[in-house]
Amino acid sequence: MKVQIDSGRCQGHGRCYDLAPDLFSEDDEGYGQVVGDGIVPQDQERAARLAISNCPERAIETL
Ligand code: F3S
Repeated sequence: MKVQIDSGRCQGHGRCYDLAPDLFSEDDEGYGQVVGDGIVPQDQERAARLAISNCPERAIETL
């Protein structure tokens, strides 16, 4: 599983990096960005799904 953020949709709600800080961080303006290459370790999949389902803009995509 791999995640990416659609920067055109992200509005900086911050739930992704609050809920899954190992997978997402914030840029200088508070918008979300993936940590590293976005590949989700198996033990982080639950956190990834939580972040995905809590993004109000549905900006987090899985590959
Ligand atoms: Fe952006 Fe959604 Fe995270 S709007 S900051 S991707 S919770």
